[in-house]
Amino acid sequence: ITRFPLIPIRGVPLMSYIANSWDSIWAFRPDPSDLLIATYPKAGTTWTQEIVDLLLHNGDAEVCKRAPTPVRIPFLEICSPPPIPSGLDLLRTRDPPRVIKTHLPFQLVPPGFWENKCKVIYVARNAKDNMVSYYHFDRMNLTQPEPGPWDGYIEKFMRGQLSWGSWYDHVKGYWVEREKRNILYLFYEDMKENPRREVERIMKYMDLSVSDEVINKIVELTSFKNMKENPMANYSCVPAPVFDHSISPFMRKGEVGDWTNHFTPEQSKMFDEDYEEQMKDVNIPFRTLI
Ligand code: A3P
Repeated sequence: ITRFPLIPIRGVPLMSYIANSWDSIWAFRPDPSDLLIATYPKAGTTWTQEIVDLLLHNGDAEVCKRAPTPVRIPFLEICSPPPIPSGLDLLRTRDPPRVIKTHLPFQLVPPGFWENKCKVIYVARNAKDNMVSYYHFDRMNLTQPEPGPWDGYIEKFMRGQLSWGSWYDHVKGYWVEREKRNILYLFYEDMKENPRREVERIMKYMDLSVSDEVINKIVELTSFKNMKENPMANYSCVPAPVFDHSISPFMRKGEVGDWTNHFTPEQSKMFDEDYEEQMKDVNIPFRTLI
């Protein structure tokens, strides 16, 4: 297993397996019926995928467990790392409508998604919790670059040197385009605060209508506790050498505010000052505590 080095594509550091097949990724043509779930890594991608999948199957957990591909997890992703079959190859084996996941920043999303007016759900999570989650993920995902010590990790995050690039550019890129492109822009903190409300928002955006009873069931099935126990959602099906759950489980804590257990007061102050500077051109209502 390799921790892939980062190679910039249009200034965005991406793992080498992505950079090396960039032309075919950029040329990918989705179907207008395909739905894209886009996130900066660790913002709540899997949670949203699970909700969308259950909405599409009227809350039937058994159908969602039946694997449409040899392993349902990883969900269809345009760029998935070897030894997982390439996302582009997997996509070719499935008929639309498909639910596709990506961590690509807005400017690197294949233009076919916009030309075909695909539905796009973006999930954003406050920077500090997002970074903490990414740090633990980089420890346990043995294809991601080595995270190194926490102190240096904060620096890399602030400078946009992590895999998939700058969190700041990522959340802003989709935010400024959300109205023009009809992107549903969700927040992890809102999902934690009131999951039912957010499930309903997703349902309406997808032009679906499921009963109140089914919505309640979906909220229950997608609670942190239940997803942690669900092998189809907790990534225990990912080939063993990729994720080492003994270092840190994929379903780690699922909380808002875990950053307070990681940042020293000095680190937090330094981070906040830089944050203000990097985010001064937008007003995205992030919450670091709820
Ligand atoms: P933590 O590391 O903070 O626990 P992604 O799916 O984008 O990789 O995001 C993973 C993060 O979302 C992890 O955060 C994980 O625990 C959290 N998560 C996944 N499912 C969740 C759920 N149902 N409720 C709350 N958090 C969830």
